Amino acid sequence: MTLPGSSTIVLGIETSCDETAAGIVMGGTDVLSSVVSSQIDLHAQFGGVVPEIASRAHVELIMPVVARAVVEEGIEEHRIDAVAATVGPGLIGSLLVGVSAAKALALVWGVPFVGVHHHEAHLYAAFLEDPALELPLVVLLVSGGHTMLIAMEDHGRYRLLGQTIDDAAGEAFDKVARFLGLGYPGGPAIDRVAMEGNPEAIAFPRAMLDDGFDVSFSGLKTAVVNHVRKHPEVTTADVAASFQQAIVDVLITKARRAAAVVGAKGLVLAGGVGANSALREQVLDACTVDGLRAFLPSRAMCTDNAAMIAACGWHRLRADGPTPLDVGADPNLRLPLLL
Ligand code: KG4
Ligand code: ZN
Repeated sequence: MTLPGSSTIVLGIETSCDETAAGIVMGGTDVLSSVVSSQIDLHAQFGGVVPEIASRAHVELIMPVVARAVVEEGIEEHRIDAVAATVGPGLIGSLLVGVSAAKALALVWGVPFVGVHHHEAHLYAAFLEDPALELPLVVLLVSGGHTMLIAMEDHGRYRLLGQTIDDAAGEAFDKVARFLGLGYPGGPAIDRVAMEGNPEAIAFPRAMLDDGFDVSFSGLKTAVVNHVRKHPEVTTADVAASFQQAIVDVLITKARRAAAVVGAKGLVLAGGVGANSALREQVLDACTVDGLRAFLPSRAMCTDNAAMIAACGWHRLRADGPTPLDVGADPNLRLPLLL
């Protein structure tokens, strides 16, 4: 095919964890449809994602979700120019469902298949809502599985500045929420409860605040558990607000420092934790003070969706061409980085 252009339409498919999603994007930035079917109710009773249940649910949901994205939004199948799917990282059984569906559709429609890295796609969610992002950028990628500070020098050119040495930010939210009896998924629950609490009520530790760009959250989780056991009278709202503020302080301190070192024009929030109200508000404030542009994708675009897969697929297709059909899913796929 010729290079993808402004009228090229890509169908994206996302099944790396517990969301079955399909999205259609034109020209890499124009979202025509985005359908996300969450399996939260299926997993909530177990307090977390059960991989076997997730893959079975993806099998049942994938074609209805694709059909909704294609038919309900009034797009005819023959207008789709390529099919992109998350090939990793993620749960292998879940990834395989989306990858197989995408390859089958690409074959039937006679269009290219494009394999997409889930984290790179999170980053492209910002371009969906602001195609004119000026580079270089610092990206704070905070999800359930990863916490990374990335310098984006150009499309496809990423430098890893720092990452978590233990728990991911989202994982810390989920574990603390479970301990506080707030249910699953924990991030949105803590976000809600924290609004009623005082973020300065408890001085939880901010680990590694002054050293480099790596972060660590497992000590914070332990500090929350110890504090609540020692002070059973403390309110859940104050614990949630103080815990959340400790995470936000660390993330923003490191991101600002990274932006200064890289000479970034702006700061991008990506990944599910990017939906956090306190983080969004304080990133905006920090960027105003530092003279940086803040790019905060809408909450729906921060959490897992397939419009970001389609957008990333458009850029990958432009840079690398179609992905061979014998490329498989890789649960530990690494983001290609500059040294
Ligand atoms: O990016 P994502 O949807 O899936 C992964 O690729 O991991 O991120 C999910 C994570 C979960 O840990 C969830 O608790 C967290 O994002 N999350 C939040 C909020 N919404 C989702 N964390 C804090 N505040 C939120 N509002
Ligand atoms: Zn994600």
